[in-house]
Order: sequence, then structure tokens, then C-alpha cells
Amino acid sequence: MANNGRVKVGIIGSQFQAEIHAASFQIAPDKAEVVAVASPTPGNAAALARKFGISRVFTDYREMLKEKDIEMVTIAAPNSLHAQMTNDCAAAGKHIVCEKPLAMTIAEGQEMIAVAKRHGVLLMYGEELLFTPKYLKAKEMADAGAFGKIYLVKQSEKHFGPHSEWFWDVNRSGGGAFMDLGCHGIAFCYWFLGRPAIKSIYCQMGTYVHADKTQAEDDSLCILEFANGALGLIENSWARRGGMDDRIEVYGAEGVTYANLHMGNALPTYSENGYGYAVEKAPTTKGWTYPVFEELWNYGTPQELTHFARCARGKETPQVTGEDGLVVLHALYAGYASAGEGRKIALPFQAPAVKKPIDLWLNSPARRRAIPQ
Ligand SMILES: NC(=O)c1ccc[n+]([C@@H]2O[C@H](COP(=O)([O-])OP(=O)(O)OC[C@H]3O[C@@H](n4cnc5c(N)ncnc54)[C@H](O)[C@@H]3O)[C@@H](O)[C@H]2O)c1
Repeated sequence: MANNGRVKVGIIGSQFQAEIHAASFQIAPDKAEVVAVASPTPGNAAALARKFGISRVFTDYREMLKEKDIEMVTIAAPNSLHAQMTNDCAAAGKHIVCEKPLAMTIAEGQEMIAVAKRHGVLLMYGEELLFTPKYLKAKEMADAGAFGKIYLVKQSEKHFGPHSEWFWDVNRSGGGAFMDLGCHGIAFCYWFLGRPAIKSIYCQMGTYVHADKTQAEDDSLCILEFANGALGLIENSWARRGGMDDRIEVYGAEGVTYANLHMGNALPTYSENGYGYAVEKAPTTKGWTYPVFEELWNYGTPQELTHFARCARGKETPQVTGEDGLVVLHALYAGYASAGEGRKIALPFQAPAVKKPIDLWLNSPARRRAIPQ
């Protein structure tokens, strides 16, 4: 495989996150170039290719995997497809960047890691919060001792619900706001605290505004206890109006820092007329709004993908891998079980074999007893 020039990348998927991948490689073009895109809906991959000057277009990603010069593939497809796609990429000898959450089930996640190892390729996990400049600054200060011993890390991500049908279908997503957004919060707290084991998890969740379109929870609260004594507090919502909201708070014995990812960087703006674009998932640009600038850079996706491209060439070691994604999956299972049982769940947790994490909440006998049918 070529070992000079830029890393050649193929993208699976052509919509929301695939476009972020393509745009991120365009923002940071030094280390990698996207040479191919694959997605099944006729015309969609071609449209993304036209927009970003990608030369090869496929409707079947397995055909793309036959291209010998492609070294790394990013997977930006529905959660239920991550495992099969990862295994196919690994068998084709491609390094893999898999979007979050790693997979639908723990068994799938374990298999993905094993298959990547067997084929000698990297399985890197697309958790951009570990590359978000403002959050990195918070961690840099914490690691330098600015706040003394950290006892609580909070992370929340909220909006009014996803942009695509499949997220609302629990058989394709595996769960709702907790699965979709809580995976960020769990990974973030775990990483921020230096990856101590998660000792227990307590969750409450419900479907408050979107019961007409999904069985999934649209709001969740989650408390994590870590082996080093610190707590994580994660709030997630698909019910929060007003566009994307992502923030952290870090509390230590000797200090504290707060970061609001979007508004903290925004220009508080009032407009009678509206304008082009404010921030991800914002429904309007009229009245008071908070337009972001350099949105992808502030998320950290270009930095994440550049790092992964360097890893593909052995120049860096992945900072976030399939193993991290698996830790998150274990916590998601325990979180849904906690919400289902209405009690704190200790980890390691012998998760029952279920088709998807949300089953531990949806089908819990304790929950069924508590809710009048
Ligand atoms: N890191 C983040 O912040 C972030 C943000 C959004 C989405 N994501 C993740 O990215 C993944 C994709 O989400 P999205 O928002 O782009 O969804 P989307 O619905 O916008 O796009 C999904 C894409 O997958 C493609 N696809 C479906 N079946 C396929 C198949 N068999 N072969 C190839 N492509 C196929 C679709 O054609 C579409 O292009 C999800 O796992 C999601 O959780 C991550």
C-alpha cells in the first residue's frame, strides 16, 4: 500500500456526518485526501462527490473496498450497520474510523475489535469531543493541576431531535437521546478523568415530546461513579428546542471551569430579517440567535481526522479506539438497565443478550409494572 503522499480515504455514507468528514478533510488537507465515497441511494454519493471534488463514486461500499489505494475508510452510516461495515473494511485491509456509537450491541463491538486486530488494521473511534479545542483546553488545565482533585465532570448535549428517520427507529439506532448523545458524554467524562473504570451508573429517562414518532427516550439524566472517586453527570435531550447545545462543567477541590461549546464562541445576534445559518439544528435565524463560526474546527472533527490519518501511517498512536467505544457501550447497556430497573447498576455488569441497548429499558419488567398500560 502506498506509504507516501497523502493518506487516501474512502467515506461510507453521503449525508450528515459523511459531509462533515468530507468538509473536515478539506479544512485540513495536508495529511489526507478523500478519493471515494459510497452510499446506496442513487445520486446522493455523486452529489457529495461533486461538492467536494471526490473522484470515485460507488453505490455499494464493498465495491469501494476493492480499490487498492484506499488506506482508511470512515464509516458515517446508521448505527446498525457499523459492525458489518467495520468487519468488511478490516477484511479488505483498510484502517477504520467508525462513527459513534461504536455498534448496536456489546457482542458486535467485541467482534469489531477482534476482527480489526486479526487483520492488522486500526479501529479508531469517531469521538470528536476529545479533539474539541475548548474542551481540550479544560483538560490541559485540569491535568496541570489548575482545579486540584477533580470530583465532578458534567457534560450535556441537547437538541430537538435528529435529522434522519433511522435515528427514531430503535431497531436501526439502538436507542434514543442517551444512545445517540450520551455516548459522547460517557466517552468525555471517562477520557477527561484519565480513563478510570466506571464503577456504577444511574439513569432516568423518558419520552416527553416525541412519543408520536419514536419508542425511544427523548431525554435522559445519567450519573456515573468512577473508580478514582469522581462523578460524571450527563444530560441528553432530543426534546430541547433552539438548536444544538453542548457544554461541560469541571469541578475540583481547588477550582472550576465551564465551557459552552456553541454560545461561548458565538456572536450574540438579533435580526428581524434572518440570515443564512446560525448553528447545527437551529430552526431559525430571526430574533435572538447565536451564530457560530468555524463550526467544524470548534467541534474538533478536522483535528480528529488528521490525527487518525497520521495513525494510519504509523506516525501517531490513536487517542481514541474501538476499546473506548466498547467501554461506552457497556455503560450504555448498564444505563438503560438502570433506567429500566429504577436503581443504580454496578459495573462490570453482566448485560443480558439483547438485540439493542434500549431493550433493557423498554422491556424491563420493573418499568412495565410502573407504567399503567
Ligand atoms: N460525531 C458526531 O457528532 C456525529 C454526528 C452525527 C452523526 N454521527 C454518527 O454518524 C453516523 C451516520 O449518521 P448521519 O447523521 O450521517 O446519518 P444520515 O442519515 O445523515 O446519513 C446516513 C448515511 O448512511 C448511508 N447508508 C445507509 N445504508 C448504507 C449502506 N448499506 N451502505 C452505505 N451507506 C449506507 C445513507 O445512504 C446515508 O448517506 C451515525 O452512526 C451517527 O451516530 C456522529
